[in-house]
Amino acid sequence: MEDFIKTPDSQEEATLRPKELTQYIGQTNVKEMMRVFIQAAKMRKETLDHVLLYGPPGLGKTTLAYIIAHEMGVDIRITSGPSIERPGDLAAILSSLQPGDVLFIDEMHRLPKYIEEILYPAMEDFSLDLVVGKDATARSIRIDLPPFTLIGATTRYGDISSPLRDRFGVVEKLEYYNETELAEIAARSASIFEVQMDEAAAIQLAMRSRGTPRIVNRLLKRVRDFALVKGNGSIDLAITNYALEQLHIDPTGLDRTDKEYLLGIIERFAGGPVGVEALAASIGEEVTTLEDVYEPYLMMQGYVQRTPRGRIATEKAYRLLQIDRGTLL
Ligand code: ADE
Repeated sequence: MEDFIKTPDSQEEATLRPKELTQYIGQTNVKEMMRVFIQAAKMRKETLDHVLLYGPPGLGKTTLAYIIAHEMGVDIRITSGPSIERPGDLAAILSSLQPGDVLFIDEMHRLPKYIEEILYPAMEDFSLDLVVGKDATARSIRIDLPPFTLIGATTRYGDISSPLRDRFGVVEKLEYYNETELAEIAARSASIFEVQMDEAAAIQLAMRSRGTPRIVNRLLKRVRDFALVKGNGSIDLAITNYALEQLHIDPTGLDRTDKEYLLGIIERFAGGPVGVEALAASIGEEVTTLEDVYEPYLMMQGYVQRTPRGRIATEKAYRLLQIDRGTLL
């Protein structure tokens, strides 16, 4: 298989993914919208308009793309922005689609600019304009494509250029999940794994998963390991708390990097404001990792504020870390 086309999911991931909208927990608004647009497209016997999904990692953008393809009754091809390097890569993927198929492009904000420009006519008119040959023999050829639905996913809506954004008929933001939804996802996954789990354990996992299904499923797998090795195989509150403590997941779900981030602002930069570059360098993380993975949740929870002069730790962060502001000043 060409390297710009992703290999299918691991078996485990594939079994946990809901296949239909009715099995997809949470994101009520997005589900309602998609249900209408899918039904309308089917009633008109048209392909679904292009869809852009954005929001923090792990909230189910890929899962939703699979579900949309399934509900439309078409196949899905999966690729990602940075893996499409040459116009020929894009041409190969697009011309391999069957009419109506979904092309899912993850990390859409990392699509090279010159690829993006080739994508415009493909999205609008289902045609590709390619330049073949070099210098004096260079000429432009037009390739007709089958109608298709592009589903783009990004963690950085602001980094999608406006001409690209404008070509998506449907733009939906995925939100963090609440505890009830995450507990339900944990219970669903436990039942797929055929492991017994108490409701209290499911709620505890939900509370520590930073609003993110990918995290609740990951923690569930680790707790399942502890239950098997250190317990009787079934997951109760005691084994859950024990496992989460061993994994250094604190009661609020923050992990070591979250804590280092907040401690970094408070201890190394006197609580801020500090620029994200300086902060990232001081704790040995990539700027993009902090911006895409850690900051959205810390900001949503009110531990940090973004100001024009940089990041500031809030009162809530001092309380969490049990640091008395007065002693530092
Ligand atoms: N697994 C991951 N995300 C999910 C969701 N939103 N609903 C059900 N199962 C999931």
